[in-house]
Amino acid sequence: MNALLNWLDNRTGYKALMHEALYERVPGGARWRYVWGSTLVFTFVLQMITGLMLWTAYSPSTRTAWESVFYIQHEMYLGNVIRGIHHFAAQAMVVLMAIHLVQVVIDGAYRAPREINFWLGIVLMMIVLGLSLTGYLLPWDQKGYYATQVTTNIMSATPGVGQQVQLLAQGGPEYGHLTLTRFFAMHAGLLPGLLIAFLALHIAAFRRQGLTVHDPKHAPDTTFWPDQVLRDAVVCLAVLAVVLLLAIFKGAELSAPADPAVKFDAARPEWYFLFLFRFLKFHSVEALGVAFGAIIVPGILMGILTLMPLTAKALGSFGHTLNKAFIWLMAIGITVLTVMAFYEDANNPSHLAALAEAHRDAERARELASGPSKIPLEGAVSLLRNDPFTQGPRLFAQHCSSCHRYNGHDGRGTVVTEMTGEGENKKSSVALATATDLGGFGRREWMKAVVVDYPAHFSAVKNAGWYKAAKAKVAAGEEVTFLDPESSEMADWSGDSAALKSPENAENVKAIVEFLAAEAGHSGVEIDSALAEKGRSVAVDGTWEGAIAGTSCAGCHSSIGSDFTPIADDAADGYPTLAKYASEAWLKDFIRHPDAKRHYGSKNQMPSYAPEQLTDTDLDLLVRWLTGNYTKTAVADYPSLITQSAAPEKAAAEPAAATP
Ligand code: HEC
Ligand code: HEC
Repeated sequence: MNALLNWLDNRTGYKALMHEALYERVPGGARWRYVWGSTLVFTFVLQMITGLMLWTAYSPSTRTAWESVFYIQHEMYLGNVIRGIHHFAAQAMVVLMAIHLVQVVIDGAYRAPREINFWLGIVLMMIVLGLSLTGYLLPWDQKGYYATQVTTNIMSATPGVGQQVQLLAQGGPEYGHLTLTRFFAMHAGLLPGLLIAFLALHIAAFRRQGLTVHDPKHAPDTTFWPDQVLRDAVVCLAVLAVVLLLAIFKGAELSAPADPAVKFDAARPEWYFLFLFRFLKFHSVEALGVAFGAIIVPGILMGILTLMPLTAKALGSFGHTLNKAFIWLMAIGITVLTVMAFYEDANNPSHLAALAEAHRDAERARELASGPSKIPLEGAVSLLRNDPFTQGPRLFAQHCSSCHRYNGHDGRGTVVTEMTGEGENKKSSVALATATDLGGFGRREWMKAVVVDYPAHFSAVKNAGWYKAAKAKVAAGEEVTFLDPESSEMADWSGDSAALKSPENAENVKAIVEFLAAEAGHSGVEIDSALAEKGRSVAVDGTWEGAIAGTSCAGCHSSIGSDFTPIADDAADGYPTLAKYASEAWLKDFIRHPDAKRHYGSKNQMPSYAPEQLTDTDLDLLVRWLTGNYTKTAVADYPSLITQSAAPEKAAAEPAAATP
């Protein structure tokens, strides 16, 4: 062995090199404050190793990037840990870099003859930030896609060259395939190459100039090995431990596949850029333009930082004091802004709602991609686009939530609000629904409420302007046809609930409900077919055994029990068809033509949705969502907001406002 090493040394001289490296003198003894540079080198090596591992599975294209990261995260052996390390070590690098910088400034390590090395350090810092920025986009998920656009849009505000640089980096006016390939080339090629080159210069210069020793009398001189190496190793291992714990227990996120058609309101840059993001939101800064806040101010601050060696040279120890004050102020300012940004986001209901939706989408995308049908050839983005569970709520919020609610919310988990009052008194308050809550539409409880409690079940319409106007006309003695849950044949019949609720009829009602639920045929509703058959005879043939015998549903709703076929004009205006009531076919026809005689006819108040307003695809997604016809999910639905939506303060204020 020894002979071999000697042979090697003879040809390379490695022993002298090793000696030089390890026995570098450390005046004043080894100290913890010198460890930061080493930890940075360590994390960078960690990034190169994990980065190469990720590269073995990553595929940069708009149709494969998310898919390959999904593979890494959920299928590759230890892929989630490797990706987690890469993710968190990147953040550790930024933190360590900040500490290193503060340490260097405090110790005056930027002063002559170390100016150039200080500047090299600043260049390295820029490269590392560039690496995090480019890396954030690579998974091509909603989060990275939208957050990176915020950053590149800001950069395009740079006077003069901004737009050209943006075009070059993006590979076009908008984000697309070339953006991804270019960012990947920068992230895995150009920037690491530059980093290695500048790091070599930085370390070489450091070796040449030696440590900047704060107080040489601190302890007897020592050598790099073993005292300082030990300290460096301890801190590196501590960093590794933290990164590993985060990677295993927290894990790197993968949000839903990037979809240019779906705005992502939860977009935020990585947390260490949040301070800048927050700074830009100050009204005074906003007023001066993006270029001012995002380019000029940071540019001036970077300029002051860069000029530190010269400041100290010109002003002596006062200059150094100034520099120290500056770096502390920067550190405090950045911390305060970051905390502010976090605090405000945590207390912003619309941001929280957007986050909740982003989380739901991410979970759902993962669920579908791991499902039996896997990721389709069109790419993962189609998973959510074709998913009723994802799109239904959005379509509902967009088209239906102005009148209806879904478990008290707008479909997307948010209370519907409106602006009330004039001028000074203008405020946002909970808006009352003007049509039924479709939360449990077509399920047993819904059917039961229709049968035994029609007036209450449809009472939301009483909040509507058209209803109040019609009531006023009725009060004035006019003859009006309108939907009145308080008084109509249906209301009178169902309102006779004493009979319907009587014990003799309990079994009949149960049977009808079962029959109606069977006709609706919603997914996931187990039907007792014997009971449903009994319900059919009760509802269709009127074989009531109890109190209101003789009155069947068919007496008014003649089509009940038959198959649904949209009939152009079934003359019985005012008696809605119950053929397959609440089924997919019924719903589609109803949403397209609520004003048809077979539905509400002349009593209708709901807009008709022609294909121009709601495409066939969207109608299908919406209806399948309402009827539960989609791939089963373990993702939690939005919590019910029925109590929050009751708006007690508004309800209390209502009578006063209603009296003319
Ligand atoms: C301008 C207000 C308005 C909008 C918008 C609206 N509806 Fe309606 N809708 C009504 C009214 C009024 C009724 C009848 C009374 C009721 O059901 O509350 C109704 C009834 C319904 C019913 C029948 C419930 C039943 O069993 O009688 C369904 C289903 C329905 N709407 C679905 C939708 C869907 C889906 C959308 C969005 C595509 C939508 N509505 C948009 C006002 C509206
Ligand atoms: C006396 C006549 C009459 C009887 C009996 C009757 N209904 Fe109705 N029903 C109506 C009328 C009229 C409407 C239209 C709404 C209105 O005017 O209030 C209606 C509306 C409905 C609706 C809302 C339909 C829609 O398109 O949104 C449902 C559901 C319904 N009835 C179910 C039933 C069931 C189930 C039974 C039997 C258990 C029944 N009805 C018995 C007259 C009746």
